[in-house]
Amino acid sequence: MCPVIDWREGHVPYSVQFKDSYYSRDNGLEESRHVFLAGNNLPQQFCPGFHIAELGFGTGLNLLMAWQAWKECGVEGPLRFTSFEAYPLTTKDMKRALASFEEIWPLAESLLSSWDKGRKSDTFPSLIFEVILGDARQTVPKWNGQADCWFLDGFAPASNPEMWEQELMVSVAEHTALGGTFATFTSAGKVRRSLSHAGFLVKRIPGFGGKRHMSVGKRVVKG
Ligand SMILES: C[S@@+](CC[C@H](N)C(=O)[O-])C[C@H]1O[C@@H](n2cnc3c(N)ncnc32)[C@H](O)[C@@H]1O
Repeated sequence: MCPVIDWREGHVPYSVQFKDSYYSRDNGLEESRHVFLAGNNLPQQFCPGFHIAELGFGTGLNLLMAWQAWKECGVEGPLRFTSFEAYPLTTKDMKRALASFEEIWPLAESLLSSWDKGRKSDTFPSLIFEVILGDARQTVPKWNGQADCWFLDGFAPASNPEMWEQELMVSVAEHTALGGTFATFTSAGKVRRSLSHAGFLVKRIPGFGGKRHMSVGKRVVKG
């Protein structure tokens, strides 16, 4: 089922189902860098074979942001990126959203070309990506991979509580290398408690733009 999209400022996708934007209306790319890259202490932690997992693929903006950072830092071999998505966007909607980010447009064209052929996974010299379709509450527990870090990017917990359920956070922890990290834009107490219960050492740090706080954490014990 393709999601119904409304557009804000002409190019920022807004989910009619979840009543929330896919990313900041101010500067989605800078938000993505602040929350998910810096929040996971990247690119400093990048090393050969590094594996990022994500809840909520959306437009692919986070993937493209991370891919660009990986290419710029020149680590050998491909970045691995696995994302979990229940409501994949059409190529047309992804293109409309991504076209406003000039900096990552050349990489976006490669992703869009795969997406347009119906490929939800593909391999490039500097990237191996896979988007696992379905409700993350079912697909993450069945995943046989392990991530070095997670981008937790569901819609706001109030409108998309499924993406922040305690059991899902436990499964995220179980699929994180010991010492691996997560970052998310939310600082909701319930989410932080769930992640902490799952085995992460959770911290609140300054958020992007108008947001006072966001959350980051490191996996310290078995979930
Ligand atoms: C804030 S958007 C993600 C934005 C995205 N990371 C990007 O770079 O554009 C949240 C995403 O979570 C997805 N989602 C919501 N509930 C889900 C669920 N139960 N399982 C998997 N994906 C879900 C939505 O379809 C949406 O694409």
